[in-house]
Amino acid sequence: MQQVLQALVLPHSKTMSRMTLTNLTHHQGTNRSTPIPRLPVLDWQTFTGLRQSSLPCLLNLPGAKYTNSGRASILIALEMFGIGQGDQVLVPTYHCPTMITPIIKVGAEPIFYPLNPDGSADLRWIATQDISRVRVILAAHFFGLPQAMSALRAWCDSQQIKLIEDCAHSLFGSSDGRPVGSWGHLAIASLTKFLPLPEGGCLVNNVGLPNFPQLGRPGLKAQIKAAFDIVHAGVNHGRIKGIRSTLEFLLSLLKMGRQPVAAPVDDEVSNASSALEFNLGPTHQTLTLACRWIAMLAPRQRIVEKRRQQYRFFAQAFQDCEFARPLVNELPDGAAPYVFPLWVDEPDPGYFELRRLGFPVSRWDRLWPHVSRIPRDFGQEWSHHILQLACHQDLTPDELNRMVALIKSVYSPTTRTKSKGDA
Ligand SMILES: Cc1ncc(COP(=O)(O)O)c(C=O)c1O
Repeated sequence: MQQVLQALVLPHSKTMSRMTLTNLTHHQGTNRSTPIPRLPVLDWQTFTGLRQSSLPCLLNLPGAKYTNSGRASILIALEMFGIGQGDQVLVPTYHCPTMITPIIKVGAEPIFYPLNPDGSADLRWIATQDISRVRVILAAHFFGLPQAMSALRAWCDSQQIKLIEDCAHSLFGSSDGRPVGSWGHLAIASLTKFLPLPEGGCLVNNVGLPNFPQLGRPGLKAQIKAAFDIVHAGVNHGRIKGIRSTLEFLLSLLKMGRQPVAAPVDDEVSNASSALEFNLGPTHQTLTLACRWIAMLAPRQRIVEKRRQQYRFFAQAFQDCEFARPLVNELPDGAAPYVFPLWVDEPDPGYFELRRLGFPVSRWDRLWPHVSRIPRDFGQEWSHHILQLACHQDLTPDELNRMVALIKSVYSPTTRTKSKGDA
């Protein structure tokens, strides 16, 4: 059974033709094919389609500035607000460590608030708490499905609390009739989730704060490496066909052969032994030129269209499924989703099997220590039951079909019975 499942994740053909590349690109001792990409990867199609998207793009907002990552943007936002020791920051119980680490870094305390069924902050619960030391709330458009923000912003203004609108999952879209990223006093985004880049973030300053910091410039080596990583991730996933030999030549030229270059690090699901050890990466550094160039010039309509199309494909595929259901069936008009949130009734041990097979899925099950259980909190339910399936623009129809087939195999009653028996 394991061989069957493995075959579903890995490309069917080209095993031989990929051998040389595998030697070049995989960690030493590994000779398996590259799995379905969890994040966008460079391909010739990256440069096709209409330049502007039908949905607003956060990068077009007047106060937008590039940063190195989404987490760096959160850190800079907290610094711009002057947050430090003694301050508290409200954050959702449904989170990944990258949302919390910047708060710890500035010396503030995260306070976890529960979520309503639609993913919005439970303001009624917050009203029962002592919020005298709360100076900021972080609110996210989970999965790239824009949240209503007007009520939250009005509440923030009435309480003199600053809103960081977390658009890491929604580079495109609109909420309550306005572009995502325009509701927060400051808003942040993560470029690697929507563009084929190894790094990148954005900070939107909607209130004219004058203290956006001076960011350092990456050196020449970092510039070259970023450009190389972009191309390499594409080739490594069987895209941008026809340039493999050029890449091999460049590799030998740059003497990087012994230094494997990976696709963007999947930090949300990395193996850090503790969430508290989480690495923020370069926080006060500008985006490399190659990344900036792609962020500015890559046509955007294809990204929006494809993601909407992939989402609908999954929604259809998991309709009437006995073990799972789409969290949100109808894709909202103003959404270009980051992932497809699939609610699975009994996610384990299937989830671990999917991860082991290199399936492009993640789950936010590594909660920050001391997140307490709050009655009627949907955030903590989601952290167990919601699988976030990649639905980016660079997944092929064949990959999408294999993803559905694999999930259905892993969670089918016969497989479950067998794996229980195996254990
Ligand atoms: C909701 C949310 N906010 C912020 C971040 C941080 O973004 P980045 O990975 O670009 O640092 C992430 C990363 O996964 C995220 O999911």
